[in-house]
Amino acid sequence: MSSASITIHWPHGPSTQAAPGTDWLDAAHQAGWSIPTGCMGGSCGACEIEVNGTTVRACIATVPASKSGELRVEQASDPYW
Ligand code: FES
Repeated sequence: MSSASITIHWPHGPSTQAAPGTDWLDAAHQAGWSIPTGCMGGSCGACEIEVNGTTVRACIATVPASKSGELRVEQASDPYW
């Protein structure tokens, strides 16, 4: 059942379902949360989020598979933004 959709817990409250491989920006949009973006190419870091405690750049990353079937997203604490 590893390809089942993932439950994503968003920092503003709601939880949504997304299939592994979904773009983070799309998944966030579906949840009504907008991830700030800049370069859209993976170099500026404006779009950083934390997924289960690991910082990822949302513009170039996709929803990973999760053994537990759940992922917790936090806004990355970046002193520059
Ligand atoms: S928007 Fe620049 S790294 Fe994602």
